[in-house]
Amino acid sequence: MNDGLEGIVAASTRLSRVDGEAGQLTLAGYAVEDLAPRASFEEVAYLFLHGRLPEPAELSRFAQDLAARRVLPGAAIAVLRESAAAQAPPMDSLRMAAAALGLGREENPWEDAMAAIASFPTIVGVYWRLRQGEPPVPVRSDLPHAAHFLHQLSGVAPSPGRVRALETYLNTVCDHGLNASTFAARVIVSTRSDVISAITGAVGALKGPLHGGAPGPALNMVFEIGAAERAETVIRAMLDRGERLMGFGHRVYRVRDPRADVLAQAAERFYSSGGDRSLYDLARSVESTALRLLRERKPDRRLDTNVEFYTALLLHGLGLPVELFTPTFAVGRVLGWAAHCLEQLREGRLIRPQSVYIGPVGLAYHGVPVH
Ligand code: ACO
Repeated sequence: MNDGLEGIVAASTRLSRVDGEAGQLTLAGYAVEDLAPRASFEEVAYLFLHGRLPEPAELSRFAQDLAARRVLPGAAIAVLRESAAAQAPPMDSLRMAAAALGLGREENPWEDAMAAIASFPTIVGVYWRLRQGEPPVPVRSDLPHAAHFLHQLSGVAPSPGRVRALETYLNTVCDHGLNASTFAARVIVSTRSDVISAITGAVGALKGPLHGGAPGPALNMVFEIGAAERAETVIRAMLDRGERLMGFGHRVYRVRDPRADVLAQAAERFYSSGGDRSLYDLARSVESTALRLLRERKPDRRLDTNVEFYTALLLHGLGLPVELFTPTFAVGRVLGWAAHCLEQLREGRLIRPQSVYIGPVGLAYHGVPVH
């Protein structure tokens, strides 16, 4: 029996390959460190949905198609108004609004996939502004995808440096083998349910702190430490209390997560160009202390830095509040979910594993007396 399905192969995919021993991530044929910092999000989306990079004319048509789907249906905006008024957690609001995306039109896997990818930035932006008591910003279809997301949040057209940093992040996290949320999406669509249902379920899976919910706590740990010389004391105390260090450890990687390097470099570029590297330098030193202490405490587990540690630093540098870290992860990962759904519908079978029953058998039912 294998609780957690560790090491079990449950699907074939052309979308991404995770080599946990070598610390390599391949995105539809390209190494993450080659593709993510240089390609636009739209190029990567085209690659995932069509299986190859686009020619210039194909890219511009695809970018327009995507941009044309940014406006939310009224039902999704109504849900966001209600959830912002109730101060609902951002991932719950994203889940509820995602569920409303298919309302008023026929189910269509391609349309549903495109609608979800295009509208996640709008959902997060509208929710956040309403939550701050500000009116949503009208959707602009003339901005690229990553710029549109930042514009939805702030109402200001972002600098090329901020757009590049966010785009590198979105590309880096867009897919990662059969992670928990992608598996959830594939299971749902494997029943021939629809893509919007699958993506809604995936949002629920991403919310948990063992998957997409770690970057906020990772950043809080860096802030709590505050100065490099306090790192050892604070981290030792956390480990003594049996706490997990957020941003470290991974089910598949037994070496450093390659996405951590891509994001660390993007963060270094971003913080250096902004003039204040102190938070970046602090994070680097927290990381090395954490790795040393994890090796000391768990010598037989290879616990290394994962993607969430530098996600936190990069997104904080971009001015995103901690509450939006996991929803921003979803803005990138929805591309992988959508592409996996289409692949599963094309090529997959019903996913239906088995369980081992470990409860009692042969109990005799005597009924409950009715008075
Ligand atoms: N800090 C301290 N100890 C840890 C950590 C950590 N970050 N991660 C694992 N361990 C320890 C566990 O306590 C356990 O110790 P034990 O054997 O003495 O009980 C041992 O290492 C194995 O842990 P598992 O839970 O079996 O590892 P698993 O593969 O199930 O979990 C996970 C992987 C969930 C990512 C885990 O490392 C963790 O909780 N990390 C912190 C949360 C985090 O960063 N999540 C983001 C992951 S990346 C992503 O999803 C995009």
